[in-house]
Amino acid sequence: MREVAVIGAGMTKFGELWNMSLRDLFVESALGAMESAGVDTLDSIYIGNMSAGQFVGQEHLGPLMADSLGMAGVPATRVESACASGGMAIRSAFLEVASGASDFVLAAGVEKMNDGADVTGVLATASDQEEEVYYGVTFPGLYAMIARAHMEKYGTTEEDLSWVSVKAHKNGAKNPHAQFRRVMSLEDVMTSSMVAEPLRLLHCSPVTDGGAAVLLCPLDRAKEFTDKPVKILGSGAATSTLALADRADPSHLDAVELSGQRAYEMAGLKPEDIDVAEVHDCFSIAEICCYEALGFVEQGKGKDAAREGITDLGGAIPVNISGGLKSKGHPVGATGVAQAVTIVEQLRGEAGELQVEGARIGLAQNMGGSGASSTVHIFQGV
Ligand code: COA
Repeated sequence: MREVAVIGAGMTKFGELWNMSLRDLFVESALGAMESAGVDTLDSIYIGNMSAGQFVGQEHLGPLMADSLGMAGVPATRVESACASGGMAIRSAFLEVASGASDFVLAAGVEKMNDGADVTGVLATASDQEEEVYYGVTFPGLYAMIARAHMEKYGTTEEDLSWVSVKAHKNGAKNPHAQFRRVMSLEDVMTSSMVAEPLRLLHCSPVTDGGAAVLLCPLDRAKEFTDKPVKILGSGAATSTLALADRADPSHLDAVELSGQRAYEMAGLKPEDIDVAEVHDCFSIAEICCYEALGFVEQGKGKDAAREGITDLGGAIPVNISGGLKSKGHPVGATGVAQAVTIVEQLRGEAGELQVEGARIGLAQNMGGSGASSTVHIFQGV
């Protein structure tokens, strides 16, 4: 396999973007990635998208997005793995460049959720229709069950969940791309309205429109296009049962662990080698479970990490310094690519007030459903 680098990255602001269509979101982020590398031709395009058919009535995104970018003729395909669609798009692009089949491949992610659809119902299609949705389960409900299981097994409290949200909003307030640029106190989080017990409004990621893109090429050509290429050291993916109740331990995200192990193995690295990480905090309990599954802390110790500052800027392993899905927003199919854009900025030393000093190696973990699919990518600034 050839070595692969990210040479360009772009993303839109995240939020309720009433004046931008699905294609506008794609084009703005794709052009951002291409222009930052000075590249105007592509060999192939992957578009991470969970459910444009249901959110805005648009399927067949490959040709639509290629044409909107002025690239009709270029092979382009949508990649779907629920909220992990973006991570899977990066993995597809990575493998295509690594295989030698293509040199310049764009991995984008896009989602337009605020356009009048029944968002909770559309998102629920990523869970098991027969075993879960039929009985009325929603995603806040599924993650509430994960939280309950974690609380019972490890003594995790509502306050532990809340410190994750306080950290997210503190950092997200400094991120110009973020949907909610507001600092939230522990009291704000713990008195916000109950959504699915024990998860309150401020333990949940919001409903978001947005796009993100990264441009990949062989590492040995990367310096032709940028002084600061970012090498992809490892790519791991895994699946688990779609239905949460079918898992041996619902408090443990086994697909996240497996995808992490595969990425660490490809990279020849261990969790302690990671300088900065973005993980999939669709609900604050998910971030706690990801700390554990990725080996940043021992199983059962994730509940203490945000409160003790271990995962904050300046801590042993800064996580979701962008504000994460909670504060930056979660346009589901775009999220995995946006995480990679954040890590690329960190490894290039371009994260401004949110810069992790001396960050050389970064990790992005993206998850679908209640953890039924997961991707992990490990990056190094070169
Ligand atoms: N975090 C912070 N503030 C939020 C928020 C969130 N997650 N969601 C909404 N708000 C704010 C809104 O901006 C609004 O503020 P305003 O009154 O100052 O304008 C207020 O809270 C009410 O917003 P509203 O849109 O009426 O909330 P809602 O009750 O319809 O939706 C949730 C709240 C939590 C149910 C919704 O955001 C949600 O479903 N989140 C989870 C999404 C999800 O499951 N993603 C996939 C994960 S796998």
